[in-house]
Amino acid sequence: MDNDIKNLEARFNEDIKNAVTAQDIEFLRVRYLGRKSSLNDLFAGIVSLNKEEKARAGRNLNILKQKITSCLDEKLKGSQSSEEKFDLTFPASSGDKGSLHILSRVNQEICAIFERLGFDIIEGAEIEDEWHNFTALNFPGDHPSRDAFDTFYLNIPPVDPEKGKHLLRCHTSPSQIRVMEENKPPLAVISPGRVYRPDEVDATHSFMFHQIEGFAVDREINFSHLKGVLFYFAREFFSGDARLRFRPHFFPFTEPSAEVDVSCFKCSGNVRGEKKCSVCKGKGWLEILGCGMIHPHVLEFCGIDSSKYQGFAFGMGVERPAMLKYGIDDIRLFTENDVKFLEQF
Ligand code: DAH
Repeated sequence: MDNDIKNLEARFNEDIKNAVTAQDIEFLRVRYLGRKSSLNDLFAGIVSLNKEEKARAGRNLNILKQKITSCLDEKLKGSQSSEEKFDLTFPASSGDKGSLHILSRVNQEICAIFERLGFDIIEGAEIEDEWHNFTALNFPGDHPSRDAFDTFYLNIPPVDPEKGKHLLRCHTSPSQIRVMEENKPPLAVISPGRVYRPDEVDATHSFMFHQIEGFAVDREINFSHLKGVLFYFAREFFSGDARLRFRPHFFPFTEPSAEVDVSCFKCSGNVRGEKKCSVCKGKGWLEILGCGMIHPHVLEFCGIDSSKYQGFAFGMGVERPAMLKYGIDDIRLFTENDVKFLEQF
């Protein structure tokens, strides 16, 4: 009898370990305490024992019954409280949602402004050749930008030796050539993308950044069309009362050329006294892009008759306007993938 009691207890201890749900526990209650349970059989067997054994077996069986009962009750309480945690009517959590990178957002915002004016968006090629990146854009053969200090050349055999070595484009202007080689005017195109320059990395420089190129070619295109388009852009992107300042400049692929400043969107250029505006540093103007009338050589390189067609072109960075607009003070933040930074936008 003593052994039977011990065995029963051991079996119960094993079974209770595997019981998880309230249903499992009730099943064990019937099995171990029910009418047909082994415990009941043992109780029934007491009558055939001698007096001394009877007393001991009775005591031990009662102790075991007590143990099993309280053990089942305890376990049931635990299982109910863990089941209560699953409230099926509770609204589901939305989870962590991804979002567009701030540079993608600014890029899309800028492109959308030009799309509203009827520009088409095209993607150029990040791996370019010397012809598209320089020669067809009217860069002379000895121009310093062609130097290996200013351009990443790629060590892969040229597909067409006449187009020169492969390289990572250092600006988006080659998109002009790609479009004009394949399409005839009228053209109005925006081409965003990454560009690469072997610059030392610091708070305002990176070896990879983004630009947006824009250009239009048609008969009778003149500088006032360029101004109109850029005014529209500045007022949509920076501020409804933005003013522009065109400063004469030089680019090989435009003639005449200009650099363009926009009046500071924070202080509107009204900086007085000691308090310097944090955005324009008290200058009142922010340099935003380069532009000009497409050089006739460039049109001719693409097989477009420059006596009949003219065009304007402009190119701007994406990082700089994004930094100005969102108060970001270090260009490296864009590529560090710090979620705390990215989540803010
Ligand atoms: N490609 C020039 C750069 O990377 C930017 C630029 C200036 C583009 C004038 C143009 C332009 O289309 O007309 O600095």
